[in-house]
Amino acid sequence: MKTLLLVFGTRPEAIKMCPLVLEFKKHPDVFNTLVCVTGQHREMLDQVLNLFEIKPDYDLNIMKPNQDLYDITSNVLLGMRDVLTEAKPDVVFVHGDTTTSSATALAAFYKQIPVAHIEAGLRTGNIYSPWPEEMNRLITGRIATYNFAPTPLSRQNLLKENVDDSKITVTGNTVIDALHWVVNKISSNADLTESLKQEMLSFGYDVSRLEQGRRLVLITGHRRENFGEGFLNICHSIKHLSEKYPDVDFVYPVHLNPNVRKPVFDILASIENVFLIEPLSYLPFVYMMEKSHLLLTDSGGVQEEAPGLGKPVLVMRNTTERPEAVDAGTVILVGTDKDKIINGVSDLLENKNGLYDRMAHAVNPYGDGKACGRVVKWLEEKLK
Ligand code: UD1
Ligand code: UDP
Repeated sequence: MKTLLLVFGTRPEAIKMCPLVLEFKKHPDVFNTLVCVTGQHREMLDQVLNLFEIKPDYDLNIMKPNQDLYDITSNVLLGMRDVLTEAKPDVVFVHGDTTTSSATALAAFYKQIPVAHIEAGLRTGNIYSPWPEEMNRLITGRIATYNFAPTPLSRQNLLKENVDDSKITVTGNTVIDALHWVVNKISSNADLTESLKQEMLSFGYDVSRLEQGRRLVLITGHRRENFGEGFLNICHSIKHLSEKYPDVDFVYPVHLNPNVRKPVFDILASIENVFLIEPLSYLPFVYMMEKSHLLLTDSGGVQEEAPGLGKPVLVMRNTTERPEAVDAGTVILVGTDKDKIINGVSDLLENKNGLYDRMAHAVNPYGDGKACGRVVKWLEEKLK
């Protein structure tokens, strides 16, 4: 029996790791599956744990208001020292590129415990964009013994860094597993759709507005490198668009980071067709993605999910570690330049030269929803 410790701390890691926890737990004869959350996020993490009904074995509970990178790194490193001493895992799993991931990988390395990296091999080639995520994934990648690359391109990135091919496998992205799990839940239960409508109403948005021919632009944003001028541009662009398209609703579940909330509420509160709401749990967020016409975001995960629902995505970032999506034609990078955001959204809303139709019908390169099964099978072989 091998003991696995899956560690995560933020909303997106939780969404992408919870289906894997459930998959490992299907094999209690082979794996003793333990979960540690760092609590880098609190409310937004708990929303996901509740949805997947996962109760962590360990919770470092590190979140502080407006924490900086030193806070997160040092608290995770010290907290993980004790958890690793007690749990004595054979393998530690981390995900992606957060500071929870890199600090946990380092903590495991100090105890010479092998690290398995889910969503390995994404690269922009610029350590300041996204910041600090590109460095987080480089650090984790150097430490990892087992690399689960979501796409052939991410595998290639690792090979270029001289990672041994026998330590890499291509699985697809586990976010598609999470997405399918939620979509099945929604489509198999008519009562749930009704309660989601009610839940949205309690969040301040009435989805029945869309039954009267209005369209929905769903927005998210939180990247550290966009703080300051980038966010001001984003907000002024949304304001401009809301005036240009009074028949479109702009719904923005605002991230809890105070650096995001201040400009967003200062500039966008009290506009009739802009709805600033609290972060949604994953189930209502997927429901809103399904209802949307397009998404405007700087999120990594949303770029992978929304195309799976046939929704075009405009990405408010200057670089991407997800070129597969750009090549497939499911996303377009618009950066944080005001004109580019306004023109990008306008072209899609007006289906300029058939742009909307092309993007909505492009094939999503991020997987088939069976990534978690592949991870479990491959690891079982490796640990034999
Ligand atoms: C973190 C990750 C980023 C990931 C993002 C997903 C790092 C350095 N950043 O960025 O890679 O894309 O999560 O959302 O790892 N807050 C709350 N409640 C919550 C969550 C956040 O109040 O549930 C507030 C707190 O004031 C907290 C602040 O947001 O201090 C920032 O959280 P933090 O995890 O440091 O950064 P994110 O921008 O969320
Ligand atoms: N998401 C959510 N509720 C929201 C906004 C986003 O559940 O109100 C989900 C979204 O579907 C995606 C993930 O959160 O799976 C993305 O998280 P975030 O944008 O915070 O981080 P990133 O993906 O950029 O690391």
